[in-house]
Amino acid sequence: MWEKGLIHSRFIFCLMLVSMFLLVVSFLFLFQFSSHSLIPRSVLELILVNNTSLYFMPNFKREKLVLPHDPSGDLKLQLQKHGESDCRVPNSSQKTSSLGQQMSVTSDPLRVFMYDLPPEFHFGLLGWKGSVNQTWPVIDDLKYIPHYPGGLNLQHSIEYWLTLDLLSSNNAKPGQPHTAIRVHDSSQADVIFVPFFSSLSYNRHSKLREGEKVSVNIMLQDKLVRFLMGRKEWKRSGGKDHLIVAHHPNSLLDARKKLGSAMLVLADFGRYPVELANVKKDIIAPYRHLVSTVPRAKSASYNERSTLVYFQGAIYRKDGGAIRQELYYLLKDEKDVHFAFGSIGGNGINQASHGMSQSKFCLNIAGDTPSSNRLFDAIVSHCVPVIISDEIELPFEDVLNYSYFSIFVRASDAIKKGFLLNLLHSIKREEWTKMWKILKDITHHFEYQYPSKPGDAVNMIWQDVARKISSVKFDLHRKSRYRRSQLPVKTD
Ligand SMILES: *[C@@H]1O[C@H](CO)[C@@H](O)[C@H](O)[C@H]1NC(C)=O
Ligand SMILES: *[C@@H]1O[C@H](CO)[C@@H](O)[C@H](O)[C@H]1NC(C)=O
Ligand SMILES: *[C@@H]1O[C@H](CO)[C@@H](O)[C@H](O)[C@H]1NC(C)=O
Ligand SMILES: *[C@@H]1O[C@H](CO)[C@@H](O)[C@H](O)[C@H]1NC(C)=O
Ligand SMILES: *[C@@H]1O[C@H](CO)[C@@H](O)[C@H](O)[C@H]1NC(C)=O
Repeated sequence: MWEKGLIHSRFIFCLMLVSMFLLVVSFLFLFQFSSHSLIPRSVLELILVNNTSLYFMPNFKREKLVLPHDPSGDLKLQLQKHGESDCRVPNSSQKTSSLGQQMSVTSDPLRVFMYDLPPEFHFGLLGWKGSVNQTWPVIDDLKYIPHYPGGLNLQHSIEYWLTLDLLSSNNAKPGQPHTAIRVHDSSQADVIFVPFFSSLSYNRHSKLREGEKVSVNIMLQDKLVRFLMGRKEWKRSGGKDHLIVAHHPNSLLDARKKLGSAMLVLADFGRYPVELANVKKDIIAPYRHLVSTVPRAKSASYNERSTLVYFQGAIYRKDGGAIRQELYYLLKDEKDVHFAFGSIGGNGINQASHGMSQSKFCLNIAGDTPSSNRLFDAIVSHCVPVIISDEIELPFEDVLNYSYFSIFVRASDAIKKGFLLNLLHSIKREEWTKMWKILKDITHHFEYQYPSKPGDAVNMIWQDVARKISSVKFDLHRKSRYRRSQLPVKTD
C-alpha cells in the first residue's frame, strides 16, 4: 500500500517534470526564435508597434490586434506580452508600422468604385483639359498632375488628395501599400466615391459670370444630383454607401439636402442639421495645414520657445465666435502672449508659421464655425493646442486620444479672469515636453500628400471610412432580410 503510493507520487513527479520541461521549451521557442521564421515579418512589425500607438485608444488596438490568421492563439500571447511592456521600438526604421501597416496587415484594402464623372466636376475645375473623351489626367508623372490652387483654398483640398490616391491605387509600387484601391465594377465595391471637387467649386465658381443665370457651382450641384439619382448604385443603397467630400462648410450647399444620405467628408457639423450630417455616418477630416511642417529635428524645445501663448485669427462677433473678443481683452496686455487679429493670408502665413513654431501653446478658439485650420497648423508646428471650442469635432477621435497632446478648456472657463494663464503656467516643462514629443510622433497623421504615405491623412480617412462602412452594410443587409418574401408572389 505504502509502496504503491510512493510509485504513484513518483510517477506524478516525473510527469510534472516532463510537462514543465515542455512548457519551458515551448516558451523559449515562442519568444526566442519567433523572429526568424514562425511569424511573418509584417506581423512582427505590428507587434513592435512604435510608441505612437500608445496614443491610440486601447479598444482600437485590441480590435486590430486580434489577427485573422492566428490558428493557435500564440500570437495573442505575444501581443499581450509586448502590449503590457512599454511598446518601445527597438528599431526606429520600423516607424511606419503605427497605423497604416496595421490596416494592411489585418484587413484587405477598402474597395472603392469611383464614378467617371466628366472633368468639369473635378480636374476641369483646376483648368485641366485632357484630350477628347479623356476623363482623368495621367498621374504617373508628378509633372503632369494639375496643381490645386494655393493660399486659403488649400485648406479644403481633401477632395483632390483622395481622388489622386484612388487614381494611383491600381499601379501601386511594392512597399507602397494602398489602404483603398479602386475597383471598376461597382458590385465589387465597399464604397462608391463621388469625385466632385465641391470646395473648389464653391471657392472659385460661386460668382455669376457674364451671361450666366446660375453660377457654375450651382449648375454642377444640380447636374450631380440628377446624375446620382439616375444611377443604379445610388438606388441600390439610397446613397448610403456613397462617399461625398464637402469639406468647405459652404460647399454642396444646394445639393446637401438631397445627398445627405451619403457618407460625407466634412470639416465639422456646424452648418448641417443633425439628420443630414452626424458623427455616426460621416467623416471629419483634418484641414490641410497652411503653415509648413516643422521638421522633427528642428522643432524648438520648451526653453527655445519664447512665446507662451499664440493666437492669430479673424475677429468674429457672431454666435460662438464672440469668445475671441472676450479672450482678446483678457490676454492682450499679458507678457509672453501673442494675441492678434487679422486673417492669415499672403505673408501672414509665414508670420504665423514662425510664431507658432516659437510658442509653447497655440489657442484654437471657436470662430464662425467650430473648426478651423489653426488646430492643424498648431499640430504641425508642434505647438501644444489649447482647444476652446465646445462644439468641435475632431478627426479620427475614435482612434486618437487628443488629450495626450492637447489641452481642452471649456469656453465658460476660458473667459474667467486669470483662468487660462494660470492653467498654462501650471503645465511645467516636463509635462509640456511629453506632449511635444507626442505631437512630433502624430504629425504625419495630419499630412496630405501625393503619393500618399502609410498613416497619413489620406490613409487615416480611408480607414475611418472602412470603420463606418461596415455599420452601413450591417444596416443595409438587415433591411434587405425579407426582400425575397416581400416580392409579389406568383400565383397560377
Ligand atoms: C532596422 O530594420 C531595417 C529593416 O527593416 C534594417 O535594414 C536595419 O538594419 C535595422 N536597424 C537596426 C538598428 O537593427
Ligand atoms: C514613431 O513613428 C513616427 C511616424 O512614423 C516617427 O516620426 C517617430 O519617430 C516614431 N517614434 C519612434 C520612437 O521611433
Ligand atoms: C469619344 O466618344 C464618342 C462617344 O462615345 C465617340 O463616338 C468618339 O469616337 C470618341 N472620340 C475619340 C477621339 O475617341
Ligand atoms: C486619454 O488621455 C488622457 C490624458 O493622458 C487620459 O487621462 C485618459 O484616460 C485617456 N483616455 C482614454 C480613454 O484612454
Ligand atoms: C518613444 O520611444 C522612444 C524610444 O524608446 C523614446 O525616446 C521616446 O521618448 C518615446 N516617445 C514618447 C512620446 O513617449
